[in-house]
Amino acid sequence: MRDTKELAQTYTVVNNTQYDAGRFLIQRLDLEPGMRILDVGCGPGNLTAYLAELVGERGAVVGIDPSEERIALARDTFSSSPSKNLAFHVGRAEDLARFPPASFDVLYCNSTLHWVADQPRALREFGRVLKPGGRLGVSGQSGDFVAAHQAIKDAVLARAPYRDYDHRAAGAPTFLRRAEMDALLDAAGFGARRFATNKIFKSTRDGAEMVDWLSSSSSGVTFGGVPVDMRPRVREEMIVEWDKLATEEGLTMELDLLVTVATKA
Ligand SMILES: C[S@@+](CC[C@H](N)C(=O)[O-])C[C@H]1O[C@@H](n2cnc3c(N)ncnc32)[C@H](O)[C@@H]1O
Repeated sequence: MRDTKELAQTYTVVNNTQYDAGRFLIQRLDLEPGMRILDVGCGPGNLTAYLAELVGERGAVVGIDPSEERIALARDTFSSSPSKNLAFHVGRAEDLARFPPASFDVLYCNSTLHWVADQPRALREFGRVLKPGGRLGVSGQSGDFVAAHQAIKDAVLARAPYRDYDHRAAGAPTFLRRAEMDALLDAAGFGARRFATNKIFKSTRDGAEMVDWLSSSSSGVTFGGVPVDMRPRVREEMIVEWDKLATEEGLTMELDLLVTVATKA
């Protein structure tokens, strides 16, 4: 993944959609003051900071993210936070070795699991660091639903010369179907679980705003494996496709999110 400081900053400006999805997930986790929470794929940390407010000073929240740019932004934004219960580290879902077994009450993973290359390993790590009876909360686009952004990305990246680059190696997302999530939870030793669908709508003024939101949300992966200096051309071609779907009111994209809450057995 080739994140940049600019994409990290744009994400914070435009990420109300993920923030609202993150709040929807939080409401299903029955959080209590004093809990210890790990936020995996915390990005610029605004939901992490909100979690820290909810658990209060007796609790603790740690955010991890592989993007040094996003962790730097999170530290800059929240280092003056009055509460001492919030920390950020560079790290990824597949390797939580810095945390001992059974060290968290809740593992929170919003709009992130589809970017994780080895999802079975990540789920096993989530189970390892959760206390028995601890809760895992995951929200992300459902693999049971094909969104317009995937169709447009696939169509544009199939054109010459973009098709000559390896788009999968650039970190294409893997959106989980409900049945796949169920199997991953079984394999990682989770017990009772609840699933919900969160239907959300992303609205923008026009195609340019939609493409910029998609690229910052995906840390640039929306442009596949094309070199960074070729991204402006891909962006223009994607904007043309999005603008074909626009009405006088602008653009609206529907997304179905799979929301999972599972208990560590
Ligand atoms: C769409 S952002 C979500 C950020 C935040 N959770 C939120 O809801 O605003 C996805 C995040 O996943 C992170 N990410 C990508 N691969 C990851 C991995 N293997 N482990 C943990 N996080 C990862 C990215 O760096 C990015 O910050």
